[in-house]
Amino acid sequence: MPRAVIAGSGSEIPPTRATNAMLARVMDTTDEWIRERSGVEARHYVERGVATSDLGVAAAGRAMEKAGVAPRDIDLVVFATMTPDHYFPGSGALLQAKLGLRDIPCFDIRQQCVGFLYGLQLVDAHVRAGLSRTALLVGAEIHSGFMPWTAPNWDYMLGRADVPPTPEEFAWNTRFRHLTVLFGDAGAAVVLRATDEPRRGVVDSLLCTNGTEYEKLHVPGTGFKHRPYTDPEQFRRGDHIPVMDGRAVFKMATTNMVSAAQEALARNEVKVDELALVLMHQANKRINEYCQKALGIPDSKVLHNIERYGNTTAATIPLLWDEAARAGRLAPGDLVLLVAFGAGMSWGATLVRA
Ligand code: ACO
Repeated sequence: MPRAVIAGSGSEIPPTRATNAMLARVMDTTDEWIRERSGVEARHYVERGVATSDLGVAAAGRAMEKAGVAPRDIDLVVFATMTPDHYFPGSGALLQAKLGLRDIPCFDIRQQCVGFLYGLQLVDAHVRAGLSRTALLVGAEIHSGFMPWTAPNWDYMLGRADVPPTPEEFAWNTRFRHLTVLFGDAGAAVVLRATDEPRRGVVDSLLCTNGTEYEKLHVPGTGFKHRPYTDPEQFRRGDHIPVMDGRAVFKMATTNMVSAAQEALARNEVKVDELALVLMHQANKRINEYCQKALGIPDSKVLHNIERYGNTTAATIPLLWDEAARAGRLAPGDLVLLVAFGAGMSWGATLVRA
């Protein structure tokens, strides 16, 4: 039975970089607090008008070039994002049009930080079923739309204007500081091809969701639980910005990432020594340090990039993959463990051979 192997990867980092010190211009926070609690040092934001599908298109173009495939070769798209260009249609359709792909199936999936792992299983299942030979899997996010800052606050933060936030704006921005400092914008993509080579491709996916505690990480407003689904009152309350119980999420993330990784390794009889790399979702460096220690993984096998990009949700793992590939850290046949946890709550661990 064929399996899906990653044949090429690409990423797109928006040019505008904001350091922690720049964020401290518009809210009560410090570089020290952000680094110590999360590991984030800077993040990138798109300029106004750039959409999630644009990041996906740029990243996918590079992945296709690397894999040596043309737009007409792509027979399946899976687009993972929690920040789509529009409420509908999903960003997959927009990417299909912008890349000039054939009229092929395009899935939009929303498993937040675990989107790439869910997408990998979806593509692999299509390949195993003979429904796809060459697929595009994209993870892209524009979190800057969640930021509560006004347009003048953005300009002041980025050093483009001299008007500081009013005390009211500063207090409003500070209300969301535990969340906003963590996130950045980015896109990443991989091309997956069907292979019959026994020692390459997706080996196993272990995916879980439990919605019991979804309210610990969700967007309370702008949904069809409301009639109309969005209104000025929701914006006044700040219900368009995610609510996150950071401590609870931290605890659930560490517990479930460790248990999923242990189960995936055990059921495939894989020892840590056999892994070439471990790529974990980049939500908080402390979460990953905890997991790394609990799983007994040496530093040499773990890559981080949260310090440069923050949490880019569905893009973190393909971004790490792309950086590893470009740094020559992935040889064909290398066994890689991917682990993620995010809103839903959803989590998973995937074993894949490069
Ligand atoms: N700057 C300065 N102080 C801050 C900031 C900030 N940016 N944010 C919060 N604080 C303050 C709080 O007000 C609080 O002050 P107090 O003690 O006076 O009340 C203090 O710092 C401690 O706040 P906590 O929230 O308890 O800090 P914690 O150590 O838990 O760190 C964090 C917060 C970084 C959010 C952490 O809990 C975390 O990373 N949680 C997991 C996040 C995550 O994994 N999210 C899932 C992925 S996202 C997705 O799926 C979409």
